[in-house]
Order: sequence, then C-alpha cells, then structure tokens
Amino acid sequence: MGVYSTTPHLLRAARGEVVDRPPVWMMRQAGRYMKAYRDLREKYPSFRDRSEIPDVAIEVSLQPWKAFQPDGVILFSDIVTPLPGLGIDMDIAEGKGPIIHSPLRTQEQIDNLHPLEPEAALPFIKTILQALRSEVGDKSTVLGFVGAPWTLAAYAVEGKGSKTYSIIKNLAFSDPTILHQLLAKLADAIAIYARYQIDSGAQVIQMFDSWAGQLSPQDYDTFALPYQQRVFQQVKQTHPDTPLILLVSGSAGVLERMAQSGADIVSVDWAVDMADARARLGKQVKVQGNLDPGVLFGSKQFIRDRILDTVRKAGNWGHILNLGHGVLPETPEENVAFFFETAKELNLAGVKG
Ligand code: CP3
Repeated sequence: MGVYSTTPHLLRAARGEVVDRPPVWMMRQAGRYMKAYRDLREKYPSFRDRSEIPDVAIEVSLQPWKAFQPDGVILFSDIVTPLPGLGIDMDIAEGKGPIIHSPLRTQEQIDNLHPLEPEAALPFIKTILQALRSEVGDKSTVLGFVGAPWTLAAYAVEGKGSKTYSIIKNLAFSDPTILHQLLAKLADAIAIYARYQIDSGAQVIQMFDSWAGQLSPQDYDTFALPYQQRVFQQVKQTHPDTPLILLVSGSAGVLERMAQSGADIVSVDWAVDMADARARLGKQVKVQGNLDPGVLFGSKQFIRDRILDTVRKAGNWGHILNLGHGVLPETPEENVAFFFETAKELNLAGVKG
C-alpha cells in the first residue's frame, strides 16, 4: 500500500475506530430492484451464470457501486454457491431460490461429502473479489459472505426453501447424530471458504444464518450457535483482523445468543428497536442495521427521519447503517439513492454515545 492509501470507512468502523458518520451499505443492494440488473438478467437468465461467470458477476456487484457509492460493495453470489464443491449438486431457480437435487438425509450421503478445495472448486470467486478490490480501491470496503451451517444444512436436507423446516427438524429432534455430522462438515467447509474469500480480497465477512431464527432458543444453542462459533473460531485463528458480521432472520429472541457466536458485529432487524438492541447487547458489541426495508417505499421525509432515529439510537460508535434485511423488489431506485445520500451527509459529532 502506498503512503496515500487510507483504510476505507466501513472497515474502520467495523474494527471499532471512531468515525465521523456511520458507514452505510444495503443487503441485496445488487438485484431485482435495479433496472441495470434486470436488463442483464435477460441476457444471462441463469443465476449460476450471473454469479459464476466472473465478468458478469463483477459487473452486477459493481452496479450499485456505480449508482450509489455505498461504503460496502458485496460480492454478487449466493450462500449455496460452495455446495457443489462439497459434492452437493444444486441449482438456483429464479424467484424461488436454491434447489438441491438429491437432498441429504442418510449417513451414507454425509460420509460421501468431501472437504472443500476452493482453488479448484471456486476459482471464479478469487477472480471476482480481486477485481472488486482493484475497482473500488480505498473508496469502499469489499464484503464477502457465507451461509452458516444450520442454514445451509436446512437447504441441503429439505432440498429447497421451507416454511416449516419439518424435514430437518424431524432429523434434529429424532436422529440428531447424523445432523451434527453434517453441521460439523459444513462448518469446516464454510471456514475454509471464508478464509479463501479473505485471501482473495474480501475485507469483511458476513455470515447469514437466515433460518436459525426458526429455532427455539434452546435448539439454537444446540444446532446453530456451536457451529457459528466453530466457523468464526477457525477464521479468527488465521485472520484475526477481518471483522465478522452475523445475521439471523427474525433474530429478536436470540440477539444475546448471537453475541456469543464470536461475531464482531451483530446484524439487527427492524422487529427490535435499535436502542433496545444496544441495551441488550452491551457497549462492547457492534451492531448493523436496522431500518425496515419497507421504509424505502415511504416519503423522503420519512426515510430521512428513520435514518436519523436509527443513528441516534445506535449511538456514535460501532454502528454500520443498513436495512434490517435485503432491499425489496420494486423499491424505487430513487429512494435507494436518497437513502445513501442522506446517510453520507450525516455527522456523528452531534450524536451522543
Ligand atoms: O435472504 C437472506 O436471509 C440472506 C441469506 C441468503 C442468501 N441467499 C444470500 C444472498 C439466503 C437465505 C439465500 C437463498 C436464496 N437464494 C434465496 C431465498 C430463497 C428462500 O428460501 O427464501 C433466493 C431467492 C436466492 C436466489 C438469489 N440470490 C437471488 C435471486 C439473488 C439476487 C439478488 C436479489 O435478491 O434480487 C441472490 C443474491 C444473493 N443471495 C446475495 C446474497 C448475500 C447477493 C449479495 C447482495 O447483494 O446482498
């Protein structure tokens, strides 16, 4: 790095430095609400093509960067992308999500999984992340991401998204030994994958345990938390300075538990008031969030007020401003632009800690 290089804003805040305004990015900031993305989707109708052909994935990842200059640029990919590298065949159906052709339900299937060799299985990830880093330089932070063991196991066992999780819960609550073996194998593969993303240029890693909020807290302690910890511990061993974010969908009942995962930053959704989240998590835990994505369907005045309210409640340290979940389809791009402009004009000098 040259003498003039500076550490980007989001990375500094994520490491606990005091910054003049909270860094801001959005989950799913590249995607369906953007016309540029929908146009490209017509040319490349397969999600796997869009996310695995480097030139296309780079272009999609950079669409929001070019339009809004967010403080974070996230790799365009999916949480199930590494599964074929373990021997789990998958597809991503437009509008529906991941499909696993032979769902994993037997001991033999678990025994047949192989360790992830990212250089061989996921060479495109390195190409994409390297290109993103060189494109945004020090002006933004490149985020990588992974799915957590419980959430990837849910897809692998159910075979697709689920409303009830009845198949994986049947396994969990009647024959947990097989499931624990799967969760352990997934955790080790995810740690390898996260390290590979960091070595390829990702400066922050967010882990999505999207479906862990479907577990009772006591089952979260058995099937989600220990494997989140296993991933984060392994990554921290080799990459102690890379901030790690944890997101669980519908996390209100397990927020304190999320802070036990080893994550540096807990992503908070809009079902929890940010002031309450801060009080529950304590001063040492950094937070991300937590506007209702639906706020972006509101008036400009409403959007501005909600940003200010969130920033005041989060205080002047350890906050990454974000939505509580992904930006919704049909969100006006103009309001996304307004959200970023407003957020980038903030000054924390007047905000109490
Ligand atoms: O939604 C979450 O809780 C985040 C975790 C998550 C991702 N993929 C991360 C992601 C989950 C649960 C998935 C599975 C998945 N993949 C679904 C959900 C299906 C279900 O069961 O409810 C869907 C629809 C997909 C397919 C997919 N992935 C699409 C259509 C897109 C494009 C962006 C969009 O939403 O239009 C993605 C990209 C994707 N999935 C990203 C991430 C972090 C891209 C990076 C980003 O911009 O955030």
